[in-house]
Amino acid sequence: MSDRIKIFDTTLRDGEQSPGVSLNTQEKLDIAKQLQKLGVDIIEAGFPIASVGDFEAVKSISKNVKGVTIAGLARATVKDIDRAWEAVQFADQARIHTFIATSDIHLKHKLKMSREQVLDAAVAAVKHAKAYTADIEFSAEDAFRSEMDFLCRVVEAAISAGATTINLPDTVGYATPFEFGEFISEVRSKVPNIDQAIISVHCHNDLGLAVANSLAAVTNGAYQIECTVNGIGERAGNASLEEVVMALYTRSRYFEKTTGIKKDEIYRTSRLVRNLTGMRIQPNKAIVGKNAFAHESGIHQDGVLKERSTYEIMNPAMIGLTIQNIVLGKHSGRHAIKDRLTELGYHLSDEEVEKAFLKFKALADKKKEINDEDLAAIVENEVITVPETYKLEYLHISSGTQMIPTATIRLAKDGEMLEEAACGDGPVDAICKAIDKITGITSTLQLYNLQAVTGGKDALGEATVKILPNGGNKKTYLGRGLSTDVIEASAKAYLNAVNKVVFALMEDEEGTDRPEVGV
Ligand code: KIV
Ligand code: ZN
Repeated sequence: MSDRIKIFDTTLRDGEQSPGVSLNTQEKLDIAKQLQKLGVDIIEAGFPIASVGDFEAVKSISKNVKGVTIAGLARATVKDIDRAWEAVQFADQARIHTFIATSDIHLKHKLKMSREQVLDAAVAAVKHAKAYTADIEFSAEDAFRSEMDFLCRVVEAAISAGATTINLPDTVGYATPFEFGEFISEVRSKVPNIDQAIISVHCHNDLGLAVANSLAAVTNGAYQIECTVNGIGERAGNASLEEVVMALYTRSRYFEKTTGIKKDEIYRTSRLVRNLTGMRIQPNKAIVGKNAFAHESGIHQDGVLKERSTYEIMNPAMIGLTIQNIVLGKHSGRHAIKDRLTELGYHLSDEEVEKAFLKFKALADKKKEINDEDLAAIVENEVITVPETYKLEYLHISSGTQMIPTATIRLAKDGEMLEEAACGDGPVDAICKAIDKITGITSTLQLYNLQAVTGGKDALGEATVKILPNGGNKKTYLGRGLSTDVIEASAKAYLNAVNKVVFALMEDEEGTDRPEVGV
């Protein structure tokens, strides 16, 4: 066996199952392209039978993201597998990932199937999928809580039927590292044909042990780790890609394993996923948290200044954390902006550079010094986003202690100016109501968050909102807006979310109606 561990990224499937996360096709495509740059081996692009949106996203990724294996998830049924193949067939290397639960608890309460029925379904699913592609992954859902002998019978049968990767999930995050390592070792010793497949692990983080369990599996013969960027996923999430990769790298003398991950793309990937999913990263999160490389105590600062390795086991530049305090101002030209954006890792089209430049200029009129964090926020909030069907042209607010907050809004749509006014409980509420009147899209505001991008009185404010459109399919939409004026940032964020709803409605018109299902 080589020493190379395959990184199977499921940010777009299990990660997208995080409560409140819903990405549109374009956003999923942007993440998939970045995952390809990051160097993951397999992108699990989605669960094609789950919804039209999922199907379209997987299909689009398999058509447009090359040089990496694209997997589609399917339950162990003909319908699911056919649909998964329909979506992944365009990939350079297409994988069908089919699964069925093997634990008695799932058999009895969820599947209402006997062990023999599950075994037959697993074999039939793998054989059916094998007719489409050679690359078949079989997952025994809730493997860790399954009875060992039955699990091994299913695994052996799935390999005989043609599975090339066997995934052994700790679906509910119940395992501890020592046990999980032994569990992998036991499966290896009890399944006679195990050498014909790669062993994969998929650990959830309910006890905060997903990364530790994945690493324990590696030391016991697993060669694929399923993980997500920033560790997002169902409930407490999945094993975090960046933690797994940096542990294998930083402790390579212990693990003696490598990955194909380009580590200097980690930070950028993490930011992109944070921005598009709206899932904030806890400041003390390992590797990509804001404080991961910050030294607060005087003793630590002194040590690091004298010699980095006193308190730092990794160099932030290694993960692509290159944000510096290079200051740009209103006299900076197009070239300076373009160069700095390229240095920061944003490879934009000419049109996007122009858009970023105009936004930069507008900001420079209000803010004297613009640094890398501001530039990154401009690109991530205002350049790489859905088309602006409605564009904010004018905003007036009257608000105070003894008056009813009122907003007057003018939006441009296809060259036409649309204006409305509305009152609300506060200025942000009034803005939302005025925008609703113009667009005709009403929704519930589920989340509103405001934070400064950098320090100082003239700092950019970044507003984030999440809306649930009324009468829709229960999908939420995230919007982000940026301005030195927090009220304007809020209006932009709300409008950004509304534009995403409009975009999704246009995308849906092209699809057909299918029931939504979940894992
Ligand atoms: O957690 C789990 O068991 C899963 C499977 C579908 C692989 O997500
Ligand atoms: Zn999972």
